Amino acid sequence: MVLYYSASGNTEYIAKLIAKALDDECLDLQPRIKNKDYTKVYSEKPFVICAPVYVCEMPRFVSDYIKRLPFRGSRKVCYVFTSGGYAGMAGLLAETMTRRKNMISMGYAELTMPSNHIVSNAYPETSPEECRRRIAEATVGAGKIASAIKHGRRLKARHVMLWERLVIPPSNSFWVKFMMPSKDFYATEKCIGCGKCSRVCPVNNITMSDKRPVWNAPCAHCMACISNCPLEAIEYADITQHKEKYHIRKYI
Ligand SMILES: Cc1cc2nc3c(=O)[nH]c(=O)nc-3n(C[C@H](O)[C@H](O)[C@H](O)COP(=O)(O)O)c2cc1C
Repeated sequence: MVLYYSASGNTEYIAKLIAKALDDECLDLQPRIKNKDYTKVYSEKPFVICAPVYVCEMPRFVSDYIKRLPFRGSRKVCYVFTSGGYAGMAGLLAETMTRRKNMISMGYAELTMPSNHIVSNAYPETSPEECRRRIAEATVGAGKIASAIKHGRRLKARHVMLWERLVIPPSNSFWVKFMMPSKDFYATEKCIGCGKCSRVCPVNNITMSDKRPVWNAPCAHCMACISNCPLEAIEYADITQHKEKYHIRKYI
């Protein structure tokens, strides 16, 4: 069974490719995470968990969910991460979580995709040409990953250096605590109050008031609201106005 969370479509695209190649089912975790639905998952084939990378780790709301989710059937799990180019400790921490769940880790793989993190100027925007190139390369990569899983091979992991192990966990905690305010999100006059932003928010951070979205804390900065707004009516501070609101559907 392939399980995934995706805010702007990259991970969903990869998860569906892998599920198709493995002739396996594909489960979107978004509604389960949103509704705190911890109904057990059952699969005789190995579990493949696909997730984006947030600040060098698996998104906290995804790992917190996986930690509590009962897995039945196969004891084998592997992970596939999509990132903008640097996955940091995501795989290593996921493997630790797997061992704690008394399951067998079959490794992890990382695919570079277009970056959806447009609310910070710290990450450079991915140009349309580069988006196409990365998606094409990741498509090939997903095929290779599926073939390895099919043949029972452990996914080959990148070696994580000592400095990464020392620097990433405190940096991630700092970033999550202080660098993800939700107060700077706002809807422009293009907003028609359809409420899609509220529905796609995995952490139930967005409420609708007088047909306008209101961002509350805690926000995961996942980009689901900005990426999925049908009218591109959501902006962040003075950072996103001239940036493309990335969603993979614009490229595939
Ligand atoms: C809050 C946040 C943090 C991110 N941090 C990283 C990062 O540390 N390294 C990186 O390469 N990409 C990072 N990204 C980019 C995403 O991992 C990447 O675009 C991913 O493919 C998005 O997947 P999705 O379209 O399935 O949501 C970040 C994106 C977000 C929203």
